[in-house]
Amino acid sequence: MGRLDGKVALITGAARGQGRAHAIAMGGAGADIAALDICHDLPYPRYSLANADDLEETVRQVEALGRRALALKADVRSARDMEAAVKTTIEQFGQIDILVCNAGIADMALTWDITEEWWDIMLDVNVKGPWLAIKYAVPHMIARNQGGRILITSSVAGLRGEPGMSHYCASKWAVVGLAKSLAQELSPYSITVNTLHPTAVNTAIISGMAKAASMQTEDLIDFIYTGHALPVKLIEAADVASAALWLASDEARYVTGHTLKVDAGRMLK
Ligand SMILES: NC(=O)c1ccc[n+]([C@@H]2O[C@H](COP(=O)([O-])OP(=O)(O)OC[C@H]3O[C@@H](n4cnc5c(N)ncnc54)[C@H](O)[C@@H]3O)[C@@H](O)[C@H]2O)c1
Repeated sequence: MGRLDGKVALITGAARGQGRAHAIAMGGAGADIAALDICHDLPYPRYSLANADDLEETVRQVEALGRRALALKADVRSARDMEAAVKTTIEQFGQIDILVCNAGIADMALTWDITEEWWDIMLDVNVKGPWLAIKYAVPHMIARNQGGRILITSSVAGLRGEPGMSHYCASKWAVVGLAKSLAQELSPYSITVNTLHPTAVNTAIISGMAKAASMQTEDLIDFIYTGHALPVKLIEAADVASAALWLASDEARYVTGHTLKVDAGRMLK
């Protein structure tokens, strides 16, 4: 028996990195996976986002686990895209039990150097994106009356300040407010809402941020390491996925409004 047998998970930002790790962990636990990603670059951040081949690779890896997988090309900033993505998932798989709002972007600049365009794109992807996914998935979850799980990927930057990342921090704190309010709204329906707070994870965001800060990736990683209590430079996407899997499972049915750190002790310092 898998921990998520019979469940369907809609995961945003699933083409690579943590989103793919969530798809593999949840697929491996028995869930069918709707894997959503933008599959093209945006004017910001200053690194490449995933492409259609990346998304197909996630689908392939989930199918190799014996689960069904659906590739959804959608921009989390678009109400039209997100309404259609939720509709397609329900048409194909019949239900959504688990929503993982993972898609996100990062970049680095001093607060007064951030352009209005950068600010708007950061907040649109990282805050409006989760809200739109929730807006269209929640009425279905309520109507189905089977409970549910909503996870939003924040960051340690949603628990502390990070110089050079104030727009990112503002977005990651914002989703905590979203989650804590929504958790109260959805408790009567046994739908839990929790946020994940990873420290630096070994994904494309790290080299992207180094590029934005005109740093060598290794120098940025060494700097990050000084903030960790546990002896690790970067955690792996699978480390976050195992925490998410627990939150998505029946074992965490009475955990809601929680801010779950996977931070190598970063917040201890
Ligand atoms: N890597 C880290 O160090 C780290 C630390 C803490 C939190 N996070 C958060 O974890 C989440 C996953 O990031 P990751 O580390 O896997 O990086 P990543 O860049 O590998 O993955 C992010 C995914 O989101 C997708 N995406 C971006 N904008 C989108 C949009 N508008 N619509 C749909 N998809 C979009 C990208 O194409 C990409 O596949 C993000 O929310 C990020 O902010 C990352």
